[in-house]
Amino acid sequence: MTTTGPIRSICCIGAGYVGGPTMAVIADRCPHIQVTVVDLNAERIAAWNHDDLARLPVYEPGLDAVVGRARGRNLHFTTAVDDAIAGADMIFLSVNTPTKTRGVGAGQASDLRWIEASARQVAAAANGHTIVVEKSTLPVRTAEAVKTILSAAQGTAGGTKTFSVLSNPEFLAEGSAIGDLENPDRVLIGGEDETAIESLASVYGQWVSQERILRTNLWSSELSKLTANAFLAQRISSINGIAALCEATGADVREVGRAIGTDSRIGSKFLQAGPGFGGSCFQKDILNLVYLCRHYGLEQVASYWESVVGLNTWQQQRIARLVVNNLFGTVSGKRIAILGFAFKADTNDTREAPAISICRDLIEEGAQLAIVDPKVGDQQITLDLGRPPVDPATAARGVPLGGDGTWIPAESVVEAARGADAVLILTEWQEYRHLDWGAIAAVMRQPAWLFDARAVADAEAARAAGLNVWRVGEG
Ligand code: NAD
Ligand code: UGA
Repeated sequence: MTTTGPIRSICCIGAGYVGGPTMAVIADRCPHIQVTVVDLNAERIAAWNHDDLARLPVYEPGLDAVVGRARGRNLHFTTAVDDAIAGADMIFLSVNTPTKTRGVGAGQASDLRWIEASARQVAAAANGHTIVVEKSTLPVRTAEAVKTILSAAQGTAGGTKTFSVLSNPEFLAEGSAIGDLENPDRVLIGGEDETAIESLASVYGQWVSQERILRTNLWSSELSKLTANAFLAQRISSINGIAALCEATGADVREVGRAIGTDSRIGSKFLQAGPGFGGSCFQKDILNLVYLCRHYGLEQVASYWESVVGLNTWQQQRIARLVVNNLFGTVSGKRIAILGFAFKADTNDTREAPAISICRDLIEEGAQLAIVDPKVGDQQITLDLGRPPVDPATAARGVPLGGDGTWIPAESVVEAARGADAVLILTEWQEYRHLDWGAIAAVMRQPAWLFDARAVADAEAARAAGLNVWRVGEG
């Protein structure tokens, strides 16, 4: 155990969806601590420093106000990684940990190259005693590798360089990140060095009650994060599977959800059927769990969790297929309005968004998509679909029957729907709950469809406006 005084200075490596908001809230709640967020990506850092708080690189309700209060006072964003490491008592590693795309474990295991690189940077640049906190989601036992890298530097610099490693996974959800950080269900701290654990607990203790700060060993903490995401994703695959059965049998998944959700053992949250889960983490974390289970010889456990991802992929494909089937078996040359591209409402994040695979499938079938999303721009959609939009003038002339599918950005829902045979809702943005279906139906080609993969639209109003309506989970 190492003695540590109160934390005065924090550095966070990684200014992404987790590092940025998490550190902004810590700085806001702990004005006595200097918090510096560093990133190699200079463009991202410049965006965090932008005068116009509406142009921060992460869109999260309430984030602008928190950053506005703390930035320049005790919250700093910089690319000077080594300086920030050298000046810190505590360093959070909040770098990306995507699925490996090649080599051993490709497609399942986490790619730990950014964690390793940042641990090496900490080993080289740190001064005195430093608490290193794993904030990224990591395979169980990664702390061992981090400790090994750091221990190679331990005792250097005149014998003063020492480290303690903690695991402190993040449970925030995008779109509600500020609320989740300000009022978390729990904060989890895993470690062996009790002084370090209490130092981190005292940071959170500025605004989180002690009963909500859970202390575990390192491996339980690392594994709890993967397990929490696997359980949450499993609920979505479960309800999406039941939604398909509801559609086939005349049941309604919302009624079934309400009926089972009132059982306090099941609970009412996370029972919304939809186009499948997206986001950067659920799939990658389950696949990582699957990889770990196989590594430890637990084949049945691995295939159990793998099926959660399999059902999710099936749900996305099923929605693209049913759109095609209902439009007389072909969407070639037909316009389809896509409402929502983000993986969920209240975020500009599109990582693993169900919209990506569904739009790709429809484009493959020859559809001409008009895509609108309140927070996702054309550039991001171009990257995600792997193709630029066509010139709207060309699109207005229509694509030749049987021609290649295309997409165009649309300024508004009505513009997207103009001349369309169908509207497909893929993100549950609040504004899609109150659309003027009379105005939308009036600009569509009849017979026209509303496919509501989020069950958020006013289906009665859409039917009254003359549209055929399909809602996920409604038999
Ligand atoms: P992100 O890709 O948005 O951000 C990671 C940042 O780290 C990038 O900006 C990258 O440039 C930077 N980076 C990588 N290596 C670096 C280095 N050596 N030095 C400086 N900067 C470096 O990722 P994210 O969504 O913030 O996720 C980070 C981690 O948190 C992941 O492990 C993820 O699984 C986990 N997590 C994410 C969420 C979420 O909602 N996005 C929630 C909980 C946990
Ligand atoms: C999720 C977890 O909720 C967080 O606790 C975790 O920290 C985070 O992953 C992470 O590790 O990255 P996030 O992916 O941001 O957060 O958002 P969720 O609200 O969990 O939604 C994930 C996906 O599931 C979205 O596509 C959402 O639309 C979908 N979903 C969610 C449903 O289809 N139905 C539901 O009932 C709930």
